[in-house]
Amino acid sequence: MARIVEVQPDRWLPRGEALCKGVGEQRPLVVWSGIPGESAKVRLVHMGQNQIRGEWVSSASPSPHRVEPPCEKYYRCGGCPWMHLDAEGQADARRGRVAALLARSGLGSLQIGALQPCPDGLQGYRHVVKVGFGRSDMGRIRVGAWSRGSREIVPIPGCLAATEVLRRTMMSLAHHTIRLGIEPYDPKTRRGTLRSAVLRASRTSGEVLVTLVAAQRNRQLAELAEEVARGVNQVVGVWLHLNAGPGNAIFQRDGDGVVGVSALGGKDWIEERLNDCTYRIGPGDFFQTNPSVAEILYQRVLERLELVEGDAVLDLYCGVGGLALPAALRTGFAVGVEEIEGAVDRAREGARINRAPAEFVCDGVMTALPDLQGRLGSVGAKVVVDPARRGLEEGVFERIVGLAPARIAYVSCNPEALARDLAMAARMGWRVDGPIELFDMFPNTAHVELLAVLVPPAGQPEPSRRGPKRKLVR
Ligand SMILES: C[S@@+](CC[C@H](N)C(=O)[O-])C[C@H]1O[C@@H](n2cnc3c(N)ncnc32)[C@H](O)[C@@H]1O
Repeated sequence: MARIVEVQPDRWLPRGEALCKGVGEQRPLVVWSGIPGESAKVRLVHMGQNQIRGEWVSSASPSPHRVEPPCEKYYRCGGCPWMHLDAEGQADARRGRVAALLARSGLGSLQIGALQPCPDGLQGYRHVVKVGFGRSDMGRIRVGAWSRGSREIVPIPGCLAATEVLRRTMMSLAHHTIRLGIEPYDPKTRRGTLRSAVLRASRTSGEVLVTLVAAQRNRQLAELAEEVARGVNQVVGVWLHLNAGPGNAIFQRDGDGVVGVSALGGKDWIEERLNDCTYRIGPGDFFQTNPSVAEILYQRVLERLELVEGDAVLDLYCGVGGLALPAALRTGFAVGVEEIEGAVDRAREGARINRAPAEFVCDGVMTALPDLQGRLGSVGAKVVVDPARRGLEEGVFERIVGLAPARIAYVSCNPEALARDLAMAARMGWRVDGPIELFDMFPNTAHVELLAVLVPPAGQPEPSRRGPKRKLVR
């Protein structure tokens, strides 16, 4: 029988578990459904070499923020680790973690704003769902979410985070995969076909784009695509991405950095409208998971860049043009840089649809910046960076500074990387202007989206009023 211990976790871990330094032994105890500061009985479920994993059982005096999770799969699914906390408890925990990380980087005096809540509440916000394929202990095919702390698959037909149309699409996908007996990929034997699927729904049109990720081609995949599209009429396109590589990354790029997809049926884009801008999104493209919060975030970025007509805006890591397109509509000129070719195609289509004077460069940020120096280096450009979780690559900030920008808006989904990069900017004399803003892009998880604005050291030369050299290619 699993041992039960009485502990008091003392801090949050990045993925939403609570941590106790050690239980008699020297290994840390990671507690699912725990809350720092709350004394609790915890069942020890895994004694690993480096850490022990436990599950919260009960508390004699529960935290005032503890709630009964409304999802029946909460204790197995890894998707919503903070569903046992009310909205206030989640907001406090996010702010606390950001404050601790900033303090650790020597930025403890920075102001942290209140968490901007999700206007849609804590449920039904997910317009992107990543689905895994596997087998149960009994050998049955399973389609659903990855479980807590392992790669097991938990069926989630009633997922409360996903939109209604994505729940139906998931159910159809699971039903037909099982009916057709399509073999899930097994990473141990490297046999089987289906690994995962990415489903994206448009809040604006309700349309859904499905990207199946398979280790190999299989004729049944076309039949699966047809059945899913027939079963859910909002599914307008089903695409296939082949990934036979090791590791858990969903997409694999080829030698040219391209995320290759091929059609199983339907069109290769859906449209989303945020604020006054229409975006085209294709299979394999990044686009924000929570459109209602993205709308607020984008608005704040544009406001805090203090854009005026005539400004040149540079949107680095721009995806399908999330910020470059509305910025160009405001100022009359923006350049976006993105390394995924398909996303750049969609960004250019977005520029055409919105009649936005934006151009897009398909390249890595590090290599694109020297080329942009000649065009934007003397105009006091306003720069947006919205990198992937790892934050800015080494050397990128120096190259941005080489453009002598007037302001930099840094959007981040990883407070640890943001704190590190802001500390590096501070060492180069750049100052964080105003509060760091927090947005609840992923309710019920430990994730948080952040916005920080940087301004140059005093004494930076005034930009010339000469406009940027334009090279609009669409
Ligand atoms: C967090 S997303 C931001 C997208 C966009 N700002 C938005 O709001 O939709 C990061 C984007 O950066 C791209 N990316 C990652 N590393 C890159 C690099 N080194 N150079 C250019 N683009 C990169 C990814 O493909 C992805 O589209």
